[in-house]
Amino acid sequence: MTNELDRPVCMQLYGSDADILAQGAQWCVENGAQVVDINMGCPVDKVTKKDGGSKLMCDVDRTLSMFERLREALPKHVPLTAKMRLGWNHQAKLDGVASTLAVGLCQRGAAMITVHGRTTKQKFKGECDLDGIKRVVDDVRAHNPHIPVIGNGDIKSANDVIAMMHHTGCAGVMIGRGSFSNPWLFRLGWALQQRVIEQGIDLGNSEAVGAIDLTDLHPSEDEKLDMLLGFFDRMVEYRDSDHARHVFRQKANLLGKQINGGHCRPLKNALREAKTDAEIYDAIEHWRTHGAEQLHIEL
Ligand SMILES: Cc1cc2nc3c(=O)[nH]c(=O)nc-3n(C[C@H](O)[C@H](O)[C@H](O)COP(=O)(O)O)c2cc1C
Repeated sequence: MTNELDRPVCMQLYGSDADILAQGAQWCVENGAQVVDINMGCPVDKVTKKDGGSKLMCDVDRTLSMFERLREALPKHVPLTAKMRLGWNHQAKLDGVASTLAVGLCQRGAAMITVHGRTTKQKFKGECDLDGIKRVVDDVRAHNPHIPVIGNGDIKSANDVIAMMHHTGCAGVMIGRGSFSNPWLFRLGWALQQRVIEQGIDLGNSEAVGAIDLTDLHPSEDEKLDMLLGFFDRMVEYRDSDHARHVFRQKANLLGKQINGGHCRPLKNALREAKTDAEIYDAIEHWRTHGAEQLHIEL
């Protein structure tokens, strides 16, 4: 589901059959996609067992032919992009598979490449390898400096955005898990970039970057609760109440991370235990008016 605020819309496909993917890509465009991305990075067994996601990095020639076929199937004005990892395993990373694939894709019309700094075998464990991302950035730039490479992995703060851009030279960043508990990361990261540029600060000067004041952009406690409400309402609108409450139950800890510095156990418990939508709304509004008091009682 999307809306007018969500533009441009990119739809991502995973798979390994060129014909099916080509049909899928056409469907995406007919249904509002302004950009189509091919998932070449998913490490999940369910996906790789069907030769999709990061399994595509294991046979670069076949993946490049598939991509070529997709590029031909799409109207010229629709950018085709790809997201990948650093390779299937450590050896593939050392062999520079990600660079070979990324440059090959660019030669076949890729408009942008996104790289996550881990291998498939690492899944989400271990460190995100910024040098590995830098290698892809450098190699794509040497081929064509106009094709952006986006860095991805472990961005949890606005400073991490700058650190990723400085270390790798990437054109931008993609944020995943960090935004689950901190949806304001996008505006904070964006503003920090703007202020770094305005103030003429070197991206590598972490002390000066860290000293930039972003407090005007930090959400108030009310805004954080409004975000919770909006998130719940949208899930009810686009899915249903049971799903919305299920997500809140599952993710109560994550959702509470930003609220009162994470000190909001009564709210998290109430979100987890709510059996009706009204109980979710009551829990949030009760916290809004009596939050600190509840904590005090608990202590
Ligand atoms: C629950 C979940 C679902 C994801 N689904 C996709 C997906 O559909 N396509 C994709 O390219 N990456 C997907 N990813 C990977 C993220 O885009 C991202 O590469 C990864 O989480 C690492 O970035 P992060 O450290 O900022 O989270 C998913 C990650 C998570 C945690």
